Amino acid sequence: MGQLVDDLLTFSRLSRQPLALQEVDPARVARQALQDLRADRDGRRIDVVVDPLPHAWADPALLRQVYVNLLSNAFKYSRSRDPATVEVGSRRQDDEDVFFVKDNGVGFDMRYTDKLFGVFQRLHRQEDYEGTGVGLAIVQRIVHRHGGRVWAEAQVDQGATFSFTLGGPNGAGG
Ligand SMILES: Nc1ncnc2c1ncn2[C@@H]1O[C@H](COP(=O)(O)OP(=O)(O)OP(=O)(O)O)[C@@H](O)[C@H]1O
Ligand SMILES: [Mg+2]
Repeated sequence: MGQLVDDLLTFSRLSRQPLALQEVDPARVARQALQDLRADRDGRRIDVVVDPLPHAWADPALLRQVYVNLLSNAFKYSRSRDPATVEVGSRRQDDEDVFFVKDNGVGFDMRYTDKLFGVFQRLHRQEDYEGTGVGLAIVQRIVHRHGGRVWAEAQVDQGATFSFTLGGPNGAGG
């Protein structure tokens, strides 16, 4: 319950707080997020690769929150894998940089892919995977405020990839 309230407060604060945009190295931000998540990896074998990434225009604290939320999901939903593998990468697509977090976990049914980003929307049972269903809604809010997009690709039992763009210097909305 405390966690739920914290998550909702984070979510609502994100709508109001002005963006502090600057040039960032997303790989560095992702490594900071990995530090934040040390405890989540306790006793597990997780091979994490952070590729060299193109610099981006973003609010570093908020981008860190994006990576924390995506990586915590990657760790959680790959719990049954040994080793779990997680890649933080990017690709150039249609003239923009697409950043992604890819895991080899349990995945999900693509029919529900749009639902995932809604508050309290969860595809997995609370008994199997704890959570409140706010993490991806926060990710979406942050990405949209940067003028970017976020989407997911997965197959049941075949892992999941969460991708996002950032708007660039003039892309950030309000
Ligand atoms: N990497 C992933 N692999 C498989 N399913 C995922 C993954 N990431 C998210 N999901 C699905 O999307 C749902 C929503 O994710 P979200 O991060 O918003 O919530 P949560 O992880 O369940 O809870 P919270 O992040 O609030 O602790 C999850 O419940 C899960 O069903
Ligand atoms: Mg989550």
